[in-house]
Amino acid sequence: MTRIGVLTSGGDAPGMNAAIRSVVRTGIARGWKVFGIPRGFAGLLEDRPIRLTSRDVSGIIQRGGTILGSARCPEFKTSPGQLRAYRRLRRSGLDALVVIGGNGSQAGANALSILGFPVVGIASTIDNDLCGSDITIGVDTALNIALEAIDRLKTTASSHGRVFVVEVMGRDCGYLALAAGVAGGAEVVMVPEIETDPEDVAAAIRSAYLHGKHHALVVVAEGATYGAERLVAYFEKHRERLGFDLRSTILGHVQRGGAPGAFDRLLASRLGAAATLAIAQNRFGVLAGLVRDEIVLTPLAAVVSEKKPIDPFLLDLAKVLAE
Ligand code: ADP
Ligand code: F6P
Repeated sequence: MTRIGVLTSGGDAPGMNAAIRSVVRTGIARGWKVFGIPRGFAGLLEDRPIRLTSRDVSGIIQRGGTILGSARCPEFKTSPGQLRAYRRLRRSGLDALVVIGGNGSQAGANALSILGFPVVGIASTIDNDLCGSDITIGVDTALNIALEAIDRLKTTASSHGRVFVVEVMGRDCGYLALAAGVAGGAEVVMVPEIETDPEDVAAAIRSAYLHGKHHALVVVAEGATYGAERLVAYFEKHRERLGFDLRSTILGHVQRGGAPGAFDRLLASRLGAAATLAIAQNRFGVLAGLVRDEIVLTPLAAVVSEKKPIDPFLLDLAKVLAE
């Protein structure tokens, strides 16, 4: 009988539980035994796989986080660490492994695949920085959490005619900031991929007031050269000349927590099913993702060798819509 393992790795994302549930139930529907590996790659190095039945994944589709736990595992980034994990996997009696996670986690999945273990990845990270999937599990929910905060901040910003800076997650990738900026009606969006001069931010805010706006909103990714704290400090330092008194809110991990929305539950359910189908068809070393509304398998080697570019159309649109 086929025995498959499943793990969640890297930053957790709303919808990871729905993906685990789908892998477990579609695997069992194929007559397989499914095992959960706790704590991502750290668990591959230290823990035993735990048998998961259909009942073990009852009542989790609506829960945020991951019932398997997740971790960052520096040892797994090294060749000896990967080899040790590979040998433990071989000894575990598992025939294949499903890795649910983002960019780093799929690089890890690719390393196991290169060593010769049958692996299938599932695209899941709130950052949306993974090639091979136009959108990843967790992004939609995280975006809606950011938007709820932005909408609330805009009302108080408007009452006081203030400038608000909202920092969203994204150390290397500006997708969340850009999407939240466009959907939240921001005057300025700052992303890690593009250097933004704070003097240009000041000019955009000034222009917003000159055009009759009553407040201004700046959405910044945590990894932008000027994150919220640095931007506020700059405006503070040059307050007399710039004339703006900024208020900032750092949303942080609140974006990663809480119940996944319908989109993420559906995407996770579909990608979980795609992963077990790939295993059934002996298609390994691939990532299950959503490309132009279709579930697509992309070789992990291709996924991890490219950096997802920021959408130039959305960047331009953010500027035009801020007028
Ligand atoms: P995410 O998957 O959300 O992008 P990380 O980048 O933190 O999260 O990666 C999660 C884990 O994947 C890391 O802690 C590490 O164990 C493993 N990993 C990351 N990058 C690599 C890599 N280049 N090669 C092998 N394993 C990696
Ligand atoms: O999962 C991705 C992410 O949320 C990034 O946006 C962020 O930079 C990072 O994880 C935060 O990591 P940690 O949870 O380790 O603080």
